[in-house]
Amino acid sequence: MRVLGIETSCDETAAAVVDGERRLLSALVLSQLDEHRPFGGVVPEVAARAHLDHLDSLVARAMDEAGIGFDELDGVAATAGPGLIGGLFVGLMTGKAIASARGLPLVAANHLEAHALTARLTDGLRFPYLLLLVSGGHCQLVAISGVGDYTIYGAAADDAVGEAFDKTAKLLGLGYPGGPALERAAADGDPGRFALPRPMLGRADCRMSFSGLKTAVRQTIERQDALDDQTVCDLAASFQAAVADVLADRCARALDRFAREHGAPGPLVVAGGVAANAALRARLERVAAERETRLTAPPLALCSDNAAMIAWTGVERLRLGHRDGPGARARPRWPLDELAPAETGEGDAAWSA
Ligand code: KG4
Ligand code: ZN
Repeated sequence: MRVLGIETSCDETAAAVVDGERRLLSALVLSQLDEHRPFGGVVPEVAARAHLDHLDSLVARAMDEAGIGFDELDGVAATAGPGLIGGLFVGLMTGKAIASARGLPLVAANHLEAHALTARLTDGLRFPYLLLLVSGGHCQLVAISGVGDYTIYGAAADDAVGEAFDKTAKLLGLGYPGGPALERAAADGDPGRFALPRPMLGRADCRMSFSGLKTAVRQTIERQDALDDQTVCDLAASFQAAVADVLADRCARALDRFAREHGAPGPLVVAGGVAANAALRARLERVAAERETRLTAPPLALCSDNAAMIAWTGVERLRLGHRDGPGARARPRWPLDELAPAETGEGDAAWSA
């Protein structure tokens, strides 16, 4: 089975071809960082326009690199949500057009499900496992029991953790995108210099909150006479350590609950752009080891937004008989626990209607 995947939900235009043997025949990602940098963040209209300008040629290149024609595909998967509506329209309409022109089945993919299933593509992981999804837009702990079978254990009540990294980096004058810049600065800093709060630490549930931490950084900055380079690095390191503490604590709670419900404490999978953070990964590895399970972290390119994970979601759902019709909608909001198991997909009858 070969599936073309299309991803346009945020600021990455991506196209990939993946097969049922977990091979990436092609995987292209076009970042829009340069378009958004002048604004210090993603501008939805700019993103939609850039997707529109680049998607067609990117799909053609992905097919070229895969070395196959459209008729050799077994399906098309395009992100239908959650995300920025303009970009979702561009990707989903392109996916629908290819599917209808070539008579291929379509999967209107959920972006979060795609992050959730990536470890099955990269590591062949079997269900069930516990997922920590940490990106710019999402921050949640989810038990993954099967395709479409997700139980959210806890989510961030306010800022997603990536958003907190980005906003904190901005406060520290570290530029955009903030996460990687903050990690670089933290490498030269003393994580013990500033005692920042650890929101939600020790709570019995698995909820998270990061906006208070960002506020604490702002207040600390306001108390400094001058924000010299060393202070910036120390604040970055202190912030990163606080985030790692909180996420480690929340993951430990979630692993305990997962063990009660599934008879084993993991494995634990981390995905999303923040999973690129080496300090966080190291910390989560320790948490997993303490509970005699292991941490699986997909390679960086497949942790952050990409189309291979969308194509793989297509593979997983098509295998189970899922088909979406031409009426499939783009959905800016589409939580994981609103997804139906694949068997109850809409069916392809709608295409011939
Ligand atoms: O998953 P992703 O590529 O896009 C979505 O938000 O869906 O994640 C991007 C987020 C940004 O907030 C970025 O600052 C953060 O991931 N990030 C990092 C690192 N690399 C990327 N955060 C902390 N440390 C990093 N090394
Ligand atoms: Zn994402």
